[in-house]
Amino acid sequence: MRNQRTIVIGFIALCLLALAVFAIRTNSRAALPALDRADPANVAAVTQGRLIYTTRCASCHGSELQGEADWPQRRANGTMPASPLNANGQAWQQSDQQLFTTIQRGGQASAPAGTISVMPAFGDRLGDTDIWAVLSYIKSTWPAALRQRQPLP
Ligand code: HEC
Repeated sequence: MRNQRTIVIGFIALCLLALAVFAIRTNSRAALPALDRADPANVAAVTQGRLIYTTRCASCHGSELQGEADWPQRRANGTMPASPLNANGQAWQQSDQQLFTTIQRGGQASAPAGTISVMPAFGDRLGDTDIWAVLSYIKSTWPAALRQRQPLP
């Protein structure tokens, strides 16, 4: 009798453990709900955006979004250094939609004639939600007063 009870209790404990492991794994893989705009107050979006920024953008724009040291001095080869994306840069002078388009289509698509942009197009690697997430993160580093001065939409 006692042996049987031990087996039953052991089995139940195992089931609970499996359930817990499953719940934790499912949770950590939960996809970010679809975004159709940048929202610096959305903690989940900002968290995912920071991760994307670190892996795909920081190599050029800097780990603190500070841009490259020689910005905004055009280089001898005609390219621009990567601009700061924090409040010290000029990104806030563009609307969210313009920034989205630059990230999606790359810098060359909107570069003035005769200039060369090395800002890559991310549309083939990042979906809309990922682009809005990275913008949410970038905007979360700007003071609210600056975000209010950004052009719409
Ligand atoms: C290979 C280097 C490189 C990488 C990687 C890169 N960028 Fe850029 N980015 C640039 C350069 C250089 C510019 C400056 C404008 C130009 O030359 O077109 C720029 C410009 C921009 C602008 C416009 C800023 C402004 O003030 O007009 C945004 C927004 C931007 N990048 C976002 C991103 C994001 C988000 C990522 C990552 C998903 C990223 N960039 C990855 C090089 C890069």
